[in-house]
Amino acid sequence: MNETLQTIKKRFSCRAYDGRLPEKEKLEAIALAGVQAPSAVNRQPWQINVITNKALIEEMDAEGMRILAESEDKSTYQRFMDRGGTLFYNAPCMFLILKKEGTDLDTGIVCQNISLAATSLGLDNVICGMARIPFNGPKGDEFKEKAGFSEGWEFGVAVLVGYGKMANSPHTPDTSKIRFID
Ligand SMILES: Cc1cc2nc3c(=O)[nH]c(=O)nc-3n(C[C@H](O)[C@H](O)[C@H](O)COP(=O)(O)O)c2cc1C
Repeated sequence: MNETLQTIKKRFSCRAYDGRLPEKEKLEAIALAGVQAPSAVNRQPWQINVITNKALIEEMDAEGMRILAESEDKSTYQRFMDRGGTLFYNAPCMFLILKKEGTDLDTGIVCQNISLAATSLGLDNVICGMARIPFNGPKGDEFKEKAGFSEGWEFGVAVLVGYGKMANSPHTPDTSKIRFID
């Protein structure tokens, strides 16, 4: 199996980090892999903000958990409480992908490039759709400013990156979902 296939095979969602910030060169290489993603008509409808401001990540985490705790349906809040009580798992770095309206597919490809690049460099990571919560709450504008949103850009998705505190296994691939039509 070649290195690309090995990286795809071993990637898993890491939900516990030791807080150590990865080396700058690794973060730069991951961001570069992000902007090397293909996009429809080569529009590249993304912006990647690499957030390593610990205080900001913690502030957004706390606000996200507060919002979940106050929402009517407590199941999501409970799920995160069961996973350690944080939204971002003590990850030291957030690759925040901003998008233009209607470009979810392009965003998904960037996010997968980032995730696989991080894995290939020995870094753990998890794609984090829940990172949208603090940006949609009452302190959303403040967080958007602090996180470097530019006018006309909206939250796409985030990828949390760092050094994992525990090993985990990738999900078992369901090969029954594959059909060869000859
Ligand atoms: C679009 C998207 C959003 C996700 N959002 C979250 C999230 O907010 N928090 C989280 O812990 N995992 C999140 N995940 C990770 C999935 O839960 C995970 O990929 C899935 O359970 C399969 O596990 P694996 O990645 O370990 O193979 C997200 C994954 C995707 C593709």
